[in-house]
Amino acid sequence: MKMWSGRFRQMLDPQFERWQRSFEFDRRLLKYELAASGAHAHALKNAGILSADELISVLEGLQRIGEMAAASNGLVDDDEAEDVHHFVEKQLVGRIGELGYKLHSGRSRNEQIATDLRLYVRAAIDELRKELAEVCLAFTDRAERAGNAAMPAYTHLQHAEPVLVGHWLLAYVEMFLRDAERLADCRKRVNVCPLGSGAVAGATLPLDRAFMAEELEFGGPTGNSIDATSDRDFVLEFVNTLSLLSLHLSRWAEEMIIFSSQEFGFVQLPEAYSTGSSAMPQKKNPDLLELVRGKTGRVIGSATALTITLKGLPLAYNKDLQETQEPLFDAADTAFALLPQVTGWMKAVEFDQGRMNEAAQAGFMNAWAAATYLVNRGVPSRVAHEQIGKAVKLCLEKNCELQDLTLKELRVLNPVFDESFQDCLKLRSVLAIHDVVGGTAPERVRQGIAVARKKIESLREEVDLHAHA
Ligand code: ARG
Repeated sequence: MKMWSGRFRQMLDPQFERWQRSFEFDRRLLKYELAASGAHAHALKNAGILSADELISVLEGLQRIGEMAAASNGLVDDDEAEDVHHFVEKQLVGRIGELGYKLHSGRSRNEQIATDLRLYVRAAIDELRKELAEVCLAFTDRAERAGNAAMPAYTHLQHAEPVLVGHWLLAYVEMFLRDAERLADCRKRVNVCPLGSGAVAGATLPLDRAFMAEELEFGGPTGNSIDATSDRDFVLEFVNTLSLLSLHLSRWAEEMIIFSSQEFGFVQLPEAYSTGSSAMPQKKNPDLLELVRGKTGRVIGSATALTITLKGLPLAYNKDLQETQEPLFDAADTAFALLPQVTGWMKAVEFDQGRMNEAAQAGFMNAWAAATYLVNRGVPSRVAHEQIGKAVKLCLEKNCELQDLTLKELRVLNPVFDESFQDCLKLRSVLAIHDVVGGTAPERVRQGIAVARKKIESLREEVDLHAHA
């Protein structure tokens, strides 16, 4: 039976009827639809609409639908179902007869889809946070393994100052930990239950909304039925968070691609994650990285599609909202697929530390340290900057580095230079002067690694807690 044919005099245009369906994509919500239907059935029993026996039959029917879906790997099929809600109703009636139609008492698909989507997003957040912890761990392990190896840090993609390789890798950990935190924050607003909101004005039966929310492990019921049935902020917020996450991954991928080019040679592409060229025999291409960068466009595209779908909608439910599902699923699927790839790549990659170290010592990257040497001897910073700038100019003329200038040459610029200047120019010293929290001095980087490990540990604990909740 259709869910709404009573008032219609004409048949639907068959092409339109097929086209307006959502079952093809919302069938993946079946698990959540069944859980939400179970909670609603309990509430119906408490409201006196279902008898105790009827409740048992309904719950058994729902359970059997779940088992059937599990056996077919979740890929349930039905040539007539309009959407996942219709599918469950048809299946239930097929199994327990007319009683199946009672389940829809006092509820609307508008609250159902809002509930299913919240359950889906909540589970996706928990899963993604788990994957993010693995990504962070892979980066942190590599940071630790890099020990005291140094590399150039860039500003404007020009040599800036030397840093520890570990320090550079921890920068990415910071981004991913923020992503994990943003997901957790988003989860708070996801975790409320629309059940009992009805079509727009609230349930027509005295359903215990707090009870239903608790059954589904939501923090509580939503506060306003009009908002609850029309709100997809949580979808947009989630996908926006994913677009920022994938943007971070894309920046990472871009940097790795640059560093793996022959010109840099810092990164040796892992063969297990690269491909060759069908034409040029010598090629090893950074496909994984390029796809990561490419997929980012897709996630950002989903976020944009959602924003535009929502922007002109009057309250409350409109069928346009059905269009929010596919971008949501696509963005989540894309992120799910990306993260383990990134973890695998980071575990497999080799850094050419010799080359990085060498690059860290060329191109006047100790110039700011040199100016600091003067500052520590009472020279005003602007003057010190100017004098080291002149020293660099001299080096450029002589085609050498600061450490190659003689004391005599230096003393022309400022008589305070003495033998100790040589030591301050050494890579070891340049790294060591950045001795502040979050700086690249080796001890600070070790601290950074320890802090990252702690945060990853608590991220894992939080995720486990939700998994067992
Ligand atoms: N398939 C619909 C959707 O995803 C379910 C809600 C339908 N509600 C309605 N009033 N037509 O949005």
